[in-house]
Amino acid sequence: KVLPRELYKADQVRALDRAAIEMMPIAGFDLMKRAGKTAFRMLLRRWPETQSLSILCGGGNNGGDGLVIAGLAAQKGLAVELTMLAEPTTLKGEAAAAWQWLQGLNECSEVQLTQWHSSSIIHGDLIVDCLLGTGLTGNVRGDYAAAIKQINESGRPVFAVDIPSGLCSDTGRTLGCAVKAHRTITFIAVKQGLLTGDAPNVVGELEYDSLGVPSAILDSIAPSCLRADWHEFEQRLPAREKVAHKGYFGRVLVIGGDYGMAGAALMAADAVCRVGAGLVYVATRPEHVSAFVTRRPEAMVRGVEFAHNIDAMLETADVVVIGPGLGRDAWGQQLFQKAMQTNKPMVVDADGLNLLAEQRFKARDNWILTPHPGEAARLLDCTVEAVEHDRFKAVVELQQRYGGTIILKGAGTLIALANADNDITLWLADTGNPGMASGGMGDVLSGILGGLRAQKGIDSSIIAPTGVVLHGESANVAKLAVGEYSLLASDLLQAIPQLLKSV
Ligand code: APR
Repeated sequence: KVLPRELYKADQVRALDRAAIEMMPIAGFDLMKRAGKTAFRMLLRRWPETQSLSILCGGGNNGGDGLVIAGLAAQKGLAVELTMLAEPTTLKGEAAAAWQWLQGLNECSEVQLTQWHSSSIIHGDLIVDCLLGTGLTGNVRGDYAAAIKQINESGRPVFAVDIPSGLCSDTGRTLGCAVKAHRTITFIAVKQGLLTGDAPNVVGELEYDSLGVPSAILDSIAPSCLRADWHEFEQRLPAREKVAHKGYFGRVLVIGGDYGMAGAALMAADAVCRVGAGLVYVATRPEHVSAFVTRRPEAMVRGVEFAHNIDAMLETADVVVIGPGLGRDAWGQQLFQKAMQTNKPMVVDADGLNLLAEQRFKARDNWILTPHPGEAARLLDCTVEAVEHDRFKAVVELQQRYGGTIILKGAGTLIALANADNDITLWLADTGNPGMASGGMGDVLSGILGGLRAQKGIDSSIIAPTGVVLHGESANVAKLAVGEYSLLASDLLQAIPQLLKSV
């Protein structure tokens, strides 16, 4: 099942919960029962051979979901080991109601109930994690940390209910430690923290169920973030104008490729060509020109010694991609300064971003910056840990400080773009695969973005999310042929046409 486009933060999901209870109307415990039933159904679908379950329940409503699953599993005749992290007498609200419901079942006596203690051992074929949900605050404390460790060391498959315990539903950050799940089912709305930060390491396969909450209720709260999906953006790319000439599809100038880094500019230029730009120019070291021409005869390549050598190309270009293999020496610095003297739309990547951070340029609204967390930290004058601590906050801060469109790369790439009123829209792209953690991937992305930006028919507000998902999807297509270990950035250049040919 495709995940929905709308992503939410924990307090918004709580508000949706309340709205569902009031407007559907449904009792809070009935909604919890639906969650438990849905989770149990999904569990059996995924692991149909299961004979025994170990369910670990915390003291909040996530634990309540677990109590419902325990009752249903016992009714189905499964052996159930139920480990409580909280005293049942301390449960409140729906979780207390779930406890009462469980106590009232005939099969309750079949459930093997224990209170967590330091030497607790997990016996079930499958572990159901209902320790901590969206109510997690601060680093995992006390017995919960020991229970999470025990789950992760058990070697058994783990099914997480709503969110793996220890993962922050707003940031995707592991708070001290987190359950490493094989599958997670999330309810009512998809939490934004399930798709970025540490989440890809701990969530496993992600499933979503609305629990029957109608879309009118879900639409009543604006999402915090939108999930970018290739199929949406594929449809938003226009058909090529039949009578257009190459100028209509734009002229892109790629500046980069210092000594030892020619390939970076070459791959960026290749990507510009592959996404349909009209013309690509490259300004690079003179020594690299013949290699470029051999590999990509469509590119107009000029060997550049001094910054003024690029004046004419800058004048002609509709878009400038600056950074791939630019270096930070005098050559790169001067070309960078020169490019910044124009007000052309730009894609700034790699060393372009490092020079930007060093030289403290003013904000611009017509550039796209594509930092990875290290570059983002330099741009924000903070540590990489601070960026990773809350990627959503970091991408918004970058947009506020530098303007334009910011693409914060990494698993679960975030995109911040502002409209004319300075309202920021956040996109999250969870496409791509770990094979992309290799050199040159960023160069291909910057070329894709520059190539799309240059084309007149494409709405500028979709360029960044379209470019990011096209990049990630082409890595997925390439992975089918070569796998993750062998995936190369240049493989993406062959995969892009396979995706774009259907537009
Ligand atoms: N360490 C240990 N315990 C914690 C921590 C922490 N860092 N943070 C919170 N807790 C405990 C508190 O005792 C708190 O009452 O966990 C409880 C919150 O539990 P949750 O189940 O996460 O939150 P709650 O709001 O009760 O329920 C939300 O209910 O709708 C279901 O599964 C769904 O995730 C959702 C959950």
